[in-house]
Amino acid sequence: MFGKKKPIPQIDKTQLALIKNAERRIKQKKRLYIHFVIFLIGSVLLIVANTVLNIGQEFKIFGLDWFVIAIIVWFVLFIYHFISVFIINKFMGRDWEDQQRDLLVAKQEERIEKLKQEYLAKESKVAKSQAFDASAKSSAPFQKKKSELTLIAAAGEDNGIGKDGDLIWHLGDDLKRFKNLTSGHCIIMGRKTFESFKNPLPNRTHIVITRQDNYAVPSGVIVVHNLDDALDAARKDAQPFIIGGGEIYRQAIGMADKIELTRVHGNFPTADTFFPEIDGFIWKETHRKEHSKDNTHNYAFSFLTYERK
Ligand SMILES: NC(=O)c1ccc[n+]([C@@H]2O[C@H](COP(=O)([O-])OP(=O)(O)OC[C@H]3O[C@@H](n4cnc5c(N)ncnc54)[C@H](OP(=O)(O)O)[C@@H]3O)[C@@H](O)[C@H]2O)c1
Repeated sequence: MFGKKKPIPQIDKTQLALIKNAERRIKQKKRLYIHFVIFLIGSVLLIVANTVLNIGQEFKIFGLDWFVIAIIVWFVLFIYHFISVFIINKFMGRDWEDQQRDLLVAKQEERIEKLKQEYLAKESKVAKSQAFDASAKSSAPFQKKKSELTLIAAAGEDNGIGKDGDLIWHLGDDLKRFKNLTSGHCIIMGRKTFESFKNPLPNRTHIVITRQDNYAVPSGVIVVHNLDDALDAARKDAQPFIIGGGEIYRQAIGMADKIELTRVHGNFPTADTFFPEIDGFIWKETHRKEHSKDNTHNYAFSFLTYERK
């Protein structure tokens, strides 16, 4: 009652066709072999009949004994048989070859289609995860980011930051703050800002952006040719700083997470370089510290921190 079921052989149609063709092929070859043996025996019998038994000894065709003609004709028939098995009917036969080729093409097409579907599924997964990352970035501000790109600058009320390749003021406490914040980090700057320093600043990795191919710098200073490469060079730093000047601030503000701005309370009409406008829709002030004018500081100023909303 609970006896074992006989296993049903799992052979697909292609395998079955292959086996049938192989069987057909074996039969074809067997028949050719039998033909050959019969031809040999028949030829010997024909020779014996004519030469030993003297059958039709007088009968000649084109001056040749009849058995010679008979053997030649039979041999030609055998050759035709041989050709039809091995040459005309190549391997498993032309039909079979065509069928196999079509099957192969169909299988490859099926595989390509499958790969295409897999690729599209993978691509949409990646797109979804990127979309998730983007939405996570905007909806979860306290989620820890890999690095925090920070712009650091000192700008007047009218956003002026420099004149003739130099600063417009000397504010010792602002320089101290700049040093405290940027020490140990990568500082990314335009070529002109780099040239405004007498020497590279200690304890910071300088990344200088220039379009010049062979721009020479002291050892340890990294030269790149666009902002993306600068950020790439600073990728191991948790807080790389963009330190100016005007051109680089303009290009980087759209990518920044934070702005450390020293707002110098004064207007500087002679300035020729400017910090970009801080858009209140994008940035919110998160910290402010005032510093009044004194003996060593010609202007009052405020340390302001802005974070992307
Ligand atoms: N108050 C502040 O906080 C502060 C801070 C920094 C600087 N500054 C002042 O700002 C002034 C300098 O600023 P700036 O705007 O004139 O110059 P900059 O931004 O310092 O440098 C401009 C140079 O950077 C290179 N560069 C810019 N964009 C590039 C890009 N996309 N690809 C490749 N190279 C690029 C070019 O160098 P090449 O010409 O070599 O190709 C360009 O001439 C100075 O007066 C300085 O004192 C003020």
